[in-house]
Amino acid sequence: EPEIITDKTQMRNWSRAMRSQGKTIGLVPTMGYLHEGHLSLVKQSHRHANLTVVSIYVNPGQFSPSEDLSTYPSDFHGDLRKVMSLSKAVDVVFHPHNLYDYKNNFKNNDVNDSKRSESGNAGSGVVSCVEEKGMGHETWVRVERLEKGLCGKSRPVFFRGVATIVSKLFNIVEPDFAFFGKKDYQQFRVIQRMVRDLDFGIEVIGSEIVRDEDGLALSSRNVHLSPEEREKALSINRSLFRARSSAEKGQINCKELRDLVIQAINDAGGRIDYAEARLETLYTLYGRMKTEPMAPNVDQSSFLEYAYFKHLTYLLNSTSQIVDQESLEAMEEIKSPVVFCIAAWFGKVRLIDNMEINIM
Ligand code: PAJ
Repeated sequence: EPEIITDKTQMRNWSRAMRSQGKTIGLVPTMGYLHEGHLSLVKQSHRHANLTVVSIYVNPGQFSPSEDLSTYPSDFHGDLRKVMSLSKAVDVVFHPHNLYDYKNNFKNNDVNDSKRSESGNAGSGVVSCVEEKGMGHETWVRVERLEKGLCGKSRPVFFRGVATIVSKLFNIVEPDFAFFGKKDYQQFRVIQRMVRDLDFGIEVIGSEIVRDEDGLALSSRNVHLSPEEREKALSINRSLFRARSSAEKGQINCKELRDLVIQAINDAGGRIDYAEARLETLYTLYGRMKTEPMAPNVDQSSFLEYAYFKHLTYLLNSTSQIVDQESLEAMEEIKSPVVFCIAAWFGKVRLIDNMEINIM
């Protein structure tokens, strides 16, 4: 049976005791509601390291107040059962209650974090559920270029929150290896880069995407899909596989390949990610629109529709992209190993998927 640790000091003491006995430690960070994708990371850690720690923590720092933090699924007892079904693969389940609650807070710590961020002290004006709740946390890790593209466009607080919580987990667990799924491709590359840039002495290992029998990439969020939505969502993986085989047959023009996939998802009734069409963005666009020579002459009452359309087109182009596997820079032609990344909405569920394409 794995040991369940909720206290971060106890977690660190356990790791230090094990390391002093010469054991290596693998860490698998998760937000729980475990499925076979998570379990494949656990198995990989079990093969690589002497001991495995699985962390289960839904991190408020990577959710914006308008996202699905409160409805994110959880089932701790189910998770424990799944972990125990992998006989002895997991040594510790680290399940902290709140990693942003600091007991020895400075006096006068009642500054309003949310206001402080909005005024620009956080460097970006982005606000996560941590600032919103005024938790007194103000140090963030940012991988400045890699966090901006792809999912960073529609989820501006996400990678800052991921890089920060993963740093905290690394400092608490002090593992030798850490395992991340390529399902969240940009996350995997962001963490790899962070570990290199900040000299964490940890080897980051990427793990292949685990799919259901119908090809849909496993995700904790899949439980929120109705059967019809799920059927439609299959257009993501099906068209990604189709795009890869076209590429292998010689189609190396990225625009052509993207059109194929976007068309298939639209036909199925999905919407390519345009989550954050915020009003301020629309007003900015309206201002710019009036100075654009090609802009149609719309009055103020219909500007929303027009700006929304422009914003949508912009995000559509940024969340379905063929990018270099390491730099995540968009490619026009496939000339090096690339990955085709997609984010799309089916009903109220935002799904991501991707496909590595390695043709030379
Ligand atoms: P979570 O979504 O729970 O995922 C935990 C790990 O499982 C991530 O590394 C993710 O890439 C991997 N994973 C999820 N679905 C997978 C699949 N179908 N195949 C392979 N791997 C899969 O990602 C997070 O949590 C969080 O952002 C976290 C890193 C824990 C930081 O809070």
